[in-house]
Amino acid sequence: MIGNINHVNIRETIPVDVERNTILNIFTNSVTNYTHGFHKYPAKFIPNIPRWAIDKYLGTKKGKLVLDPFCGSGTTLVEGLLAGHNVIGIDIDPLSAMIVKVKTTPVDISQLEIICHWIAAEIEKQGREGTFKPACTNINHWFTADAINKLSLIRTLIGEIPERFEHSRQNNDISDLLLICFSSIIRRVSNADNESQKTYVSHTKVKEPEETISLFLEQLNFFKERIAEFSVRVDPKLSRQIICSSSAEGLKTKLGEIIIDLVVTSPPYIKAIDYIYNQMVELFWIGDLFDMQTQTKQNAKKEYYIGTKHLPKRKYAEYTPFRATLGISKLDEKLQEVYEKDRKNGHKHAYIAFKYFTDMEKHFAELASYLDPNTHYVVVVGDCSVSGVPFETAEFLIDIAERNDFRITNEWGYQIKNRYMRFDRKGRGGIIAIDWVLDFIKE
Ligand SMILES: C[S@@+](CC[C@H](N)C(=O)[O-])C[C@H]1O[C@@H](n2cnc3c(N)ncnc32)[C@H](O)[C@@H]1O
Repeated sequence: MIGNINHVNIRETIPVDVERNTILNIFTNSVTNYTHGFHKYPAKFIPNIPRWAIDKYLGTKKGKLVLDPFCGSGTTLVEGLLAGHNVIGIDIDPLSAMIVKVKTTPVDISQLEIICHWIAAEIEKQGREGTFKPACTNINHWFTADAINKLSLIRTLIGEIPERFEHSRQNNDISDLLLICFSSIIRRVSNADNESQKTYVSHTKVKEPEETISLFLEQLNFFKERIAEFSVRVDPKLSRQIICSSSAEGLKTKLGEIIIDLVVTSPPYIKAIDYIYNQMVELFWIGDLFDMQTQTKQNAKKEYYIGTKHLPKRKYAEYTPFRATLGISKLDEKLQEVYEKDRKNGHKHAYIAFKYFTDMEKHFAELASYLDPNTHYVVVVGDCSVSGVPFETAEFLIDIAERNDFRITNEWGYQIKNRYMRFDRKGRGGIIAIDWVLDFIKE
């Protein structure tokens, strides 16, 4: 970023006022409290960030409305509810939407106990077999026969909940919680490497998958304990709405006539994370719920994610950064540099970056037309490099936001020292993992 950078160490709580251009080294041990630790998700931000923004801008008020337009695994929404506010999350990713729903929905704990007891008893029954079959043709590459049989049994049992117990919203919420609990063990019981962002089976580092049933039951206990804590703590009258859609278009139609009091988000990075590829093995087992159960179906959705590198050739065949410019000279020069460097990919990378900023501009314009003046919009974003060309993404997003009726009021960065979150933010082309917090206000 610009000017002199000042490094400050802090433990857990971010001070309300952070000086411009400070980089905080945050030491935190509390990133998985309540429902935060339910499911892995790439590029989660630490709860301390939305907690800071909510505390700073909503203070002791209650019942306000907090929006996260790229809500991922729902960190902002969980923090919003814990602080006593109503929440709305938008994300294009259907698995994200389901994770967020489960992480933010209190359930009836005694009914959850009854259903969990039934599932555990059914699993134990001699000769009980699952009927669910993943549609993926090479499932044996990804899972052992033992894991396939046991996952099939668990998924089948979860599917039987509506007929075994009555159809009700309460049972439906519990069924979703069990599906996310089921999903949360899938990578660990698969043959695929547990930690990598991309899902792959390593032949050099052969993995011993964990035993499916005991892991599921252990995880179920963890879910029960955490959702119980969350359900007791969160006011049941608060509302949560999760919209599975793009934040770059039609926000007015999607959100309706409401007043948003605060926006906190971390949008995607350029070319860094393939969210669908990351969730591939999970989608083999629950993707049928969103029509994403095979790799072909999964791949077809990738082009709609902001920052994606999966763009059909026809989209960039005609593109040149010398004709299509963004009107920010430093950014246009970078795009031209990438274009020159990336001949071997048919200049695809320049187009990926161009499209990223174009999509983010659409998002800013949409949101600006929606928010009331003086509403704060806190954006967390990391810099990156494209074809070896460093991109000061944060600076460019400031320029773009400012020409869409937002004004930057502060900018500071942070590094996380104790990373408890799997799939952290390293996968961004060799750039140091600093996230910038851009604090905008709607003009
Ligand atoms: C950096 S992640 C957000 C992580 C989140 N802060 C958390 O703590 O889990 C960015 C999210 O943007 C979503 N996304 C990508 N393109 C989108 C679009 N066009 N509209 C809405 N969400 C999108 C991705 O699916 C991903 O979940």
